Amino acid sequence: MRITLNIGGSILAKNGELDVKLLSEIASAVKTLKRQGHLVYVVVGGGETARKYMEAGKKLHLSSSLLDEIGIWTTRLNAKLLSLLLGSEIGREVPTTIEAALEQAMHGKIPVMGGTAPGQTTDAVAALLANASGSELLIFITDVDGIYTADPKTNPEAQKILRLTTKELVKMFGHVRQKPGIKIVLDPIAVKLIDRYKLKTFVLPATDVPRLPEIVAGASHSGTTVEPVK
Ligand code: UTP
Repeated sequence: MRITLNIGGSILAKNGELDVKLLSEIASAVKTLKRQGHLVYVVVGGGETARKYMEAGKKLHLSSSLLDEIGIWTTRLNAKLLSLLLGSEIGREVPTTIEAALEQAMHGKIPVMGGTAPGQTTDAVAALLANASGSELLIFITDVDGIYTADPKTNPEAQKILRLTTKELVKMFGHVRQKPGIKIVLDPIAVKLIDRYKLKTFVLPATDVPRLPEIVAGASHSGTTVEPVK
């Protein structure tokens, strides 16, 4: 199966510390999936590192598109770190475009990339890559355990949604305005792309990472499933 995996930057680092245990769990799950014959495409977010650099850029009066550029470089730094844990399975460079990622995959490598262009987040990159690669499954690993009716970190009334369709997803979250570093579940651009390309999607917590190979094989997960509808 072709699988696109998005690693939310917010789960990779907390309080200035990178989560090395999680990084090695992700690498090990990706290697197992590859060994099982799956074609895996990985996109990594910038998280705390992105926010730090973008805040500094803001204080230095950089324009919004240049702040996005700084954000993109931090996603590539995280992608580089994860890719180094995959050893000979990866291409020589972190791909900077979807086309370069597809090219690496054609040579039997696992592409591990970050952002591509200003004005979006790596969620959107993952949706684009999932479509371009013909992935049957798009998986987001996030710092919440699925999609909620509202932001569970700020709203105690928020309820977890176990299953919804791509149409319901876009109706609920396609319009939410986005600020860099702040988002509700998924970037609205990604939500629109998931609906447009009818991508079967899982939104999972980091605790599901060690079980990814089982989950891909059909075992239950603790997040949300988004089912495509025509
Ligand atoms: P992220 O994808 O990490 O966004 O990109 P995020 O909202 O912080 O998500 P988490 O917390 O990692 O899951 C970091 C920033 O880099 C810029 C955006 O400014 C984004 O907020 N970026 C990223 C782009 O402009 N284009 C891209 O393709 C990717």
